[in-house]
Amino acid sequence: MSENQTSPEDFEMDPLNRVRAYHHRTKHGFGRYAASPGFMDWETQPDPFRRFEGAAQTPLPLSADQLPVLYAELFTPGMIQPAPLNQHSVGQLLELSFGLSAWKQYGGDRWALRCNPSSGNLHPTEAYLVASGVDGLEDGVFHYVSHDHALEHRCSFQPPLQGFLVGLSSIHWREAWKYGERAFRYCQHDIGHALGALRYAAAVLGWKVRLLEAWGDDDIASLLGLDRQGDFVDAETEAPDLLCLIETSNMNGDEPDIDTLVAAAKAGVWAGQANTLSKTHNFDWPEIEEVSTAAHKPRTEQSLVAETFGNTIPPLPPTLCELTAAELIKQRRSAQSFDGVTAIPAKTLYRILDATLPRDDLPPFDVGCWPPKVHLVVFVHRVVGLPPGVYLFCRSPDAEPKFRNTLKQGFKWERSEGCPSHLHLFRLIRADAKQAAITLSCQQAIAGDSAFSLGMLAEFEEGLSEGPWVYRRLFWECGLIGQVLYLEAEAAGVRGTGIGCFFDDPVHELLGIEDVTWQSLYHFTIGGALVDNRLQSLPGYWHLQR
Ligand SMILES: Cc1cc2nc3c(=O)[nH]c(=O)nc-3n(C[C@H](O)[C@H](O)[C@H](O)COP(=O)(O)O)c2cc1C
Repeated sequence: MSENQTSPEDFEMDPLNRVRAYHHRTKHGFGRYAASPGFMDWETQPDPFRRFEGAAQTPLPLSADQLPVLYAELFTPGMIQPAPLNQHSVGQLLELSFGLSAWKQYGGDRWALRCNPSSGNLHPTEAYLVASGVDGLEDGVFHYVSHDHALEHRCSFQPPLQGFLVGLSSIHWREAWKYGERAFRYCQHDIGHALGALRYAAAVLGWKVRLLEAWGDDDIASLLGLDRQGDFVDAETEAPDLLCLIETSNMNGDEPDIDTLVAAAKAGVWAGQANTLSKTHNFDWPEIEEVSTAAHKPRTEQSLVAETFGNTIPPLPPTLCELTAAELIKQRRSAQSFDGVTAIPAKTLYRILDATLPRDDLPPFDVGCWPPKVHLVVFVHRVVGLPPGVYLFCRSPDAEPKFRNTLKQGFKWERSEGCPSHLHLFRLIRADAKQAAITLSCQQAIAGDSAFSLGMLAEFEEGLSEGPWVYRRLFWECGLIGQVLYLEAEAAGVRGTGIGCFFDDPVHELLGIEDVTWQSLYHFTIGGALVDNRLQSLPGYWHLQR
């Protein structure tokens, strides 16, 4: 039996061990990549746009560019007057979170980019809206079609709810088509990015987003119609991920009762048949469905942790960015290569790291309030005022002693002069770490040609001790951090790129991590981007005559 086949013992694993086993078998290592097709099977390339044929479509206005709010203003709580809730503002929210930001064209190929990034631009994330009493919209459940910037009316019913909810799901197949077994991880990163994108877009409208943490996956599936098998005949299924309450000015903030809302949706009138994304699937990845089942979230008590982070860190220092938030969100791109020369000031690095700290009332971490479980190992290459080397950034003070107990003896743990005292940043090794970063990132030059790159170290076993489903939330936290990094990089006049391809255990070995206390779940890089002038750009909605 080959290493990647399921053994009889695997079937006896409990969900937690199945999640652990999935994580370990989908690691990339020197000389061994996680199982994947290994080539692009263009014949079966999934359609990037889900549609529900037969569901009535409501086109949304395209007006996010008219929003005058500056990116800098998003970081002063209470600064932005809440927008009135209507079809117009809902359209702006969706345009800035999951809408198309541009089309790229090269030779005979043209592909769309979106405000939310996605591993391989495959976009497994689907977005839904549950609306009640929104001016200009009927009541019920809607699916958002980013290509058309339109809502498909999936279910007609009167939700017992004031305002609206946004739900997210993942079509695992879209990522698995290219990445095979590791794809489940990437779908979870993308959900974190999408949640961040939603939170920033809501902030532009003066709204808040609250993750409804108590909802179980089955509750979300029933509400959004993802469990209606008859609507997905010959179509790739969607796994429920999360549901958020959007808090606008005219809401009292009460969370909807789960049973009442789900029962009302089930009794509604449903319409639409999901489209087939690939006419055949030449590869099946049963491990993905198995880990998805094992990491299934049951309904839980409302978060047991405090309602706020209650942290006392100083306010985020001002950004120098003068762009409007809509401009910045739409210009966000992944750098495909870096120039290998651009350096950023240490102050810029500090602002970027500071923005990854959770603060009450500031996007995006105020969506939920689990304590930070993800910390950063930073490879500093070109930062003026900071010696190159490997640094550790603890996103919460309590992580520092835990790291001191587990990381390699002999690290320096040096503080840098001029680093704000609330930033728990330590230099572990003073060295040129460019080649190490490249090697660890599956030999991708983007990790070394930048100003700095980083790995996200999650408190893995401690996280999983809450339940196997927390495996997904660890990746969501990484995705949220990634979304901060993307926008902060643009705001600083440089550019970022998420890195899902890295050699897991070699990263741990560099730091002396011998067990699963810490696991690196996502990497990122930021620097001076090289722009490929062969690619032509078109506006995101050039194809719509509105
Ligand atoms: C979770 C995640 C992992 C990624 N991994 C890589 C990577 O390993 N290498 C790379 O060059 N780009 C990577 N990217 C960048 C994507 O390819 C990029 O987001 C996608 O092509 C869409 O382009 P855009 O970000 O400009 O919208 C990753 C992005 C995400 C969100």
